[in-house]
Amino acid sequence: MIITGGKNMASKELLEMLNKGIARELQVAIQYMWQHVQWSGVKGFATQDELEKTATTEMKHAEAIAERLFYLGGIPTTKPTEIFVGKTLKEMIERDIKDEENAITLYKAVIEQARKEKDQTTEILFMNILKDEEEHHDTFTTLIEDIK
Ligand SMILES: [Fe+2]
Ligand SMILES: [Fe+2]
Repeated sequence: MIITGGKNMASKELLEMLNKGIARELQVAIQYMWQHVQWSGVKGFATQDELEKTATTEMKHAEAIAERLFYLGGIPTTKPTEIFVGKTLKEMIERDIKDEENAITLYKAVIEQARKEKDQTTEILFMNILKDEEEHHDTFTTLIEDIK
């Protein structure tokens, strides 16, 4: 079903996908920031700056997706997906790798859906965010090499 809200159009499905995206951006923004605070061990030195930097990027993603969702007539969620901080650095980064993989999967699906609906702005937005998530995935998989 296509919802036509004045100037804008988006399917309910696409709006729900954007809100899923916001929920997980909020989740990882908090998760990475708290991991940055709670890191430990010598090997954490290299990781802690990355975690802080990445947390900030994720919050900007949440903002960008929320702006798009609101423009399309949706209400951005304030509820993050369940946050996992972890106790050891290994535990933290292993989980972060999974979260980045989930983001990549979801955002590829968003890009496909936006294409179907000829919503080029959402498509471009998510192509840019996807590039960041692939970089995060690359960073975390590189960091885990030194932690194992
Ligand atoms: Fe993100
Ligand atoms: Fe990310």
